[in-house]
Amino acid sequence: MMSQKMQPAMEYQKSTPKSRRLYERALKVMPGGTTRTSVYFLPYPPYVTKGRGCHIWDVEGRRRLDFVNNYTALILGHAHPKVLRAAREALSRGSAFASPTESEIRLAQIIKERVPSVELLRFVNSGTEAAMFALRLARAFTGRAKIAKFEGGFHGTYDPVQVSVRTPVERLGPREAPLSVPEAAGIPQEVADQVVVLPFNDQENVERILRRHQGEIAALIVEPIPAMAGMIPPRDGFLSFLREITAREGIVFILDEIITLRVHPGGAQALYGVKPDLTLMGKIIGGGFPVAAFGGKAEIMALLDPTSGAPAIPHPGTYNGNPLGMAAGIATLKLLTQQAYEHLNGLGDLLRKRLNQLFGRLGVPAQAIGVGSLFFLHFTDKDITDYRVSRSADLGKVRETFLGLMSEGIFFSERGMGCLSTPMTESEIDRFVKAVEKVLRK
Ligand SMILES: Cc1ncc(COP(=O)(O)O)c(C=O)c1O
Repeated sequence: MMSQKMQPAMEYQKSTPKSRRLYERALKVMPGGTTRTSVYFLPYPPYVTKGRGCHIWDVEGRRRLDFVNNYTALILGHAHPKVLRAAREALSRGSAFASPTESEIRLAQIIKERVPSVELLRFVNSGTEAAMFALRLARAFTGRAKIAKFEGGFHGTYDPVQVSVRTPVERLGPREAPLSVPEAAGIPQEVADQVVVLPFNDQENVERILRRHQGEIAALIVEPIPAMAGMIPPRDGFLSFLREITAREGIVFILDEIITLRVHPGGAQALYGVKPDLTLMGKIIGGGFPVAAFGGKAEIMALLDPTSGAPAIPHPGTYNGNPLGMAAGIATLKLLTQQAYEHLNGLGDLLRKRLNQLFGRLGVPAQAIGVGSLFFLHFTDKDITDYRVSRSADLGKVRETFLGLMSEGIFFSERGMGCLSTPMTESEIDRFVKAVEKVLRK
């Protein structure tokens, strides 16, 4: 008899023969058949032909409700007519120039108005680059080399931040003195040794560890709601504590809002009332195109200023501020009104409530946590306060649920992370909860 565990994967494979054939072609041209590990899963991902609103279609012609939205980037869903119109208009005038366009000023102004801690900013093409430049700025500004980050914190693929991200718990070392574990082969231990790793939501240990490295740390980088680590809300006062201790120790405080700019027009910093020195932004600010940014205090950003000769930190980049991404970003942020955020956040609260009621009713040790339109399914009943707890949940069960949802017309992520888009209504929330119920009852 086929084991229960095999069923979702078998069902998925049976319903996706065209994707399998494409994947076999992909294997011949890309390592493991993929160009982005975050969209790869076993046995192979579904290949997509189009997206519209809150739905995507795969090559089999199957429509699924999209709860991933390109890992939170597409807050308006797919192919919003106003975003497409803005991008088409920009494209009709040419795609990129070795000169600035007015559009970069307009997008920067909108961001600055919404996120007042950003006095000046620069555009880049990915969150990875934003993290890289923010850390370089912090090192140059302070004259110090070390950086501090949290266990499970993800900030892209620049060497010093790819440390202790998805590390198995048994390799993390003691909680009072976490190890700096390189996340990828090719990151020298010498680089990881420059990284001080901290436990999230643990004020006492953070204070103790930072004291141990007094005068050595240039920057402390943190996601206000660590996303990949499990969409973990910060404890009351934790971010303010980080703000205060970094100010006291002369450490540049960097908030990575690449995902959390979704929770409030002013980002999580507005929601929790903290003012970082530098902020990383990405995803939603490009309206579906590769745009990211870093910005903050004018006196730090001045290190990039070329007006008095060669800047301390040069910042070239063929596609920085590219007009297509700028136009899509402007159109997107204009549509993101206060009401749009309220709509999304209300749906997020409803989704978490209904899922948690469902888990209670079925007696399944699981929980949906998160903030605003961001959520995460954890198959554990432990209180999720940091990466170590989140990592101890039943990861196999999340994967099974994800594959099961695929057959129920729901596109979700293998790791359990999801988000909403503005075209969604209570009826999409209802569909998701009912599909989860069906999968769990199987
Ligand atoms: C919090 C956070 N920071 C940084 C990044 C890196 O961004 P990118 O994939 O654009 O390099 C991501 C990407 O998912 C992210 O979620």
